[in-house]
Amino acid sequence: MKRALTGIKPTGIPHIGNYFGAIKPGLELAENYQAFYFIADYHALNQIKDSKQLKDSSYQVAAAWLACGLDPKKTLIYRQSSVPETFELSTILAAFTPKGLMNRAHAYKAVVAQNEEAGKNTDDGVNMGLFTYPILMAADILLFDADVVPVGKDQKQHLEMAIDIAQTINYTYQKELLKIPEPVIRTETETVIGLDGRKMSKSYNNVIPLFLPAGQLRKHVMRIVTNSQTVEESKDPETCNIFALYKLFASKHEQEALAKMYRDGGMGWGVAKQTLFEKMDIELTPYRNHYDELMSDKAQIDKILDEGSALARSIAVRKMAKLRKALGVG
Ligand code: TRP
Repeated sequence: MKRALTGIKPTGIPHIGNYFGAIKPGLELAENYQAFYFIADYHALNQIKDSKQLKDSSYQVAAAWLACGLDPKKTLIYRQSSVPETFELSTILAAFTPKGLMNRAHAYKAVVAQNEEAGKNTDDGVNMGLFTYPILMAADILLFDADVVPVGKDQKQHLEMAIDIAQTINYTYQKELLKIPEPVIRTETETVIGLDGRKMSKSYNNVIPLFLPAGQLRKHVMRIVTNSQTVEESKDPETCNIFALYKLFASKHEQEALAKMYRDGGMGWGVAKQTLFEKMDIELTPYRNHYDELMSDKAQIDKILDEGSALARSIAVRKMAKLRKALGVG
């Protein structure tokens, strides 16, 4: 079976966009691949310098994937920080990575551009972890000989850099020391819109967290932005934020029924929102219960992550032994 690998950066509460964009497709992929999914906690450290926040986020992300159906008996789930070989490989990769390649990384360039705009020093707020981020990510991938790497569009460039670095090493030693991974880039249709109609994203403050208690979920749904049409008017489901979210949860039949109510007129936005809320609540309740159960017993999550990490590490140790030999170190 081919190997699929991806990292999940624990930087916030899992939301509906994460579910449809990453978790659901990731779990589907895991049915046909040997999946390696890990919590990229050292990537998050570049951003989060609050120990409790980082730890909590790691649990939340792990619990989210488990609650949504990740089966740790079939899919390897582990912590990046529990596989220290990652950081050893990262050191090796750095020796083959031109500084100019890192200068071109979007995430780094975006901060530089912001600084320039604000009239600040270009290096302001840039730590070396941000600058070398693509090297660490390449190490995550190349350490495990991943065949495919599912990621969002924003990670495409990082993946191309991983491929670039791996090819340089293979070329240098005239041997396939590192497997060249194939990117699987998430499609537009997996992009979920948020409360304000823009892409659902923590940075836009428009997210609906996945595991909200019903009352809070309802409050969020009631905040979805709509136009100011009256109750009587006929409405267009295809341009409506409520309907866009409804489509993600409802069957074709249910979608058609609600679309008809839109077109017929006589239905106000409050009713459409209530319909969406009820549908979401039904779909999400089993996940929420499982999530709450996991989060109330962190030892259970730790046990799963410890076991996954031990297995991942045994694979990583073997890979590093081969690499060290090929490079003439150690
Ligand atoms: N950088 C990725 C993100 O922000 C997370 C990540 C870290 C990752 N290492 C990875 C993704 C390796 C795929 C493969 O989403």
